[in-house]
Amino acid sequence: MTNIGSYDERVKNFSWSIAEKELDYKDGDILNIGWYCSDRICNMGKAGKTAMIWEGLGGKEKQYTFNDVRLHSNTIGHFLRSLGINNSDRVCLFMDKLPELYLGVLGILKIGAVAQPLFSAFGDESLFVRLENAGTKAIITQKKHAGKVQKILDRLPNLEHIIIVDYDGKKPLREKEIAFSLEDSKPVEKLDIYPTKAESHSLLHYTSGTTGQPKGVKHVHYSLISQYLTTKWVLDLQEDDIYWCTADPGWVTGTSYGIFGPWSLGVTICVLDTGFSADSWYQFMEKNKVSMWYSAPTAIRSLMKAGDEAVKKYDLSALRHLASVGEPLNAEAVIWSGKVFGKPFLDTYWQTETGSMMLTNFPGMKIKPGSMGKAFPGITAVILDPETFEPITSPNKPGLIAFQPGWPAMMRTYWNNDETYQTKFKNGWYLAGDRSTIDQDGYFWFIGRDDDVINTGGHLISPFEVESALLEHEAVAESAVVAKPDEVNMEVVKAFVTLNPGFQASDVLELKIMNFIRKKLSPLAMPQEIEYLDKLPKTRSGKIMRRLLHAQEWGEEIGDTSTLEDD
Ligand code: PRX
Repeated sequence: MTNIGSYDERVKNFSWSIAEKELDYKDGDILNIGWYCSDRICNMGKAGKTAMIWEGLGGKEKQYTFNDVRLHSNTIGHFLRSLGINNSDRVCLFMDKLPELYLGVLGILKIGAVAQPLFSAFGDESLFVRLENAGTKAIITQKKHAGKVQKILDRLPNLEHIIIVDYDGKKPLREKEIAFSLEDSKPVEKLDIYPTKAESHSLLHYTSGTTGQPKGVKHVHYSLISQYLTTKWVLDLQEDDIYWCTADPGWVTGTSYGIFGPWSLGVTICVLDTGFSADSWYQFMEKNKVSMWYSAPTAIRSLMKAGDEAVKKYDLSALRHLASVGEPLNAEAVIWSGKVFGKPFLDTYWQTETGSMMLTNFPGMKIKPGSMGKAFPGITAVILDPETFEPITSPNKPGLIAFQPGWPAMMRTYWNNDETYQTKFKNGWYLAGDRSTIDQDGYFWFIGRDDDVINTGGHLISPFEVESALLEHEAVAESAVVAKPDEVNMEVVKAFVTLNPGFQASDVLELKIMNFIRKKLSPLAMPQEIEYLDKLPKTRSGKIMRRLLHAQEWGEEIGDTSTLEDD
């Protein structure tokens, strides 16, 4: 029996109060995700149950019970308070997938502060714009990433504390740095949990758009209502599951479904803090008897490339359910996974802004490989005509994916940027920024993004951010950045540049520029190819026509070029 049971029945009788009741929450009550994911589970008699199995480099392992999670998150919360961190202050987590990241998110939430997790591979410039925008007061990080913080410290007047979780005393602490060792700290048995309410700010996740700087997506504690129920019904988590979400909590999947969903249900999670390889992943799953696996299409395509034989070397018989998110999951990957794992990956569609799953394939449903599935119960999803913004009622006609606002996990605004938030709505619909069709059975079929944002391996990259960073390289005069097709990542970043006088196009220069971007922004944002041009295609008003370059990369029709600048 699946948790969702009959989809049609659920749709008919749906109310978010189902989740509220199961979580013993009533309108107006205190609602604190940190407490729900630890103390409440302990109060339900599961204090001794394993909450997290963690594995790091070299096979190093750690295990935590729900009581450990409760105590450690208390300890982190208490430590932050002792530094003067108050409710509503933004605290950034900038580290690899260490246990402190998972426990730290809960600790921050428990004192009513706002958790701002950032992907640890970000370079100093990517880090800077996000910390500056958020006015972050403290950052929790590791030795190996602290240098990036030091580099930008003098430009961040609001940043008061740099907390190093693995300080070993080998080098003196620098300005604003403070050491904190979870293992050496006395566990705090009782912490006064800050009485956050449904609408209290919980998380700030940054996401990239086509133009402007990255936007801080504001989430609130009430998001747990959606995260709990979607985890229960779509990921179908059961009491004895061993659940592995491969996403990094620097991205929304890693918090909504890497922490909050499973822990609010009292389910054991696994974390693997090493790089990707098919063998290490399969080995990890075999060893921990992973039964539910939530991953991403790029990882699945990489596993496909590693071949069927690689799978056969391992006993993955504990696997009973697989799901995917982040980018189009091609039909081949669905079919392949069904063949080699005995279960297909079920696609889910959602966004940083939606906070929880919107379109889903769930267990028991007829799967149409290549489709994102149907709207989660309680979610009104439509395709809008791009001209009129009215819902398209006839099947298989392309349009804009839109949702009726009001589900619990929906973002409340963009931090310090309500203007942009307001532009996301038309005729009362929230526009996701993607295009799709709906077939006669209500299944959604992804077409593509409705903007120039590049989705590389499930990570959104703003062409604007990369173009701006390129211009900071001494050799680059002008730049245009588009997606180019890639077999595994679907899309990768490609840059077109013109050079400043005195610089010669060469392979060495290409590598230098690539490296410059990798360090400044991140390995994901690094162009995989740089093409030198004498001149970039521009409109008569001087705007670079990315559309043209994009079409060239994808072998598509160039379309209307009447606004193109003359030679
Ligand atoms: O373009 C869609 C794509 O990823 C975008 C959201 O990215 P982000 O906010 O980083 O969140 C990713 C994980 C929740 C969407 O606007 N996307 C997400 N899921 C799918 C997808 N594209 C196709 N199929 C999906 N299942």
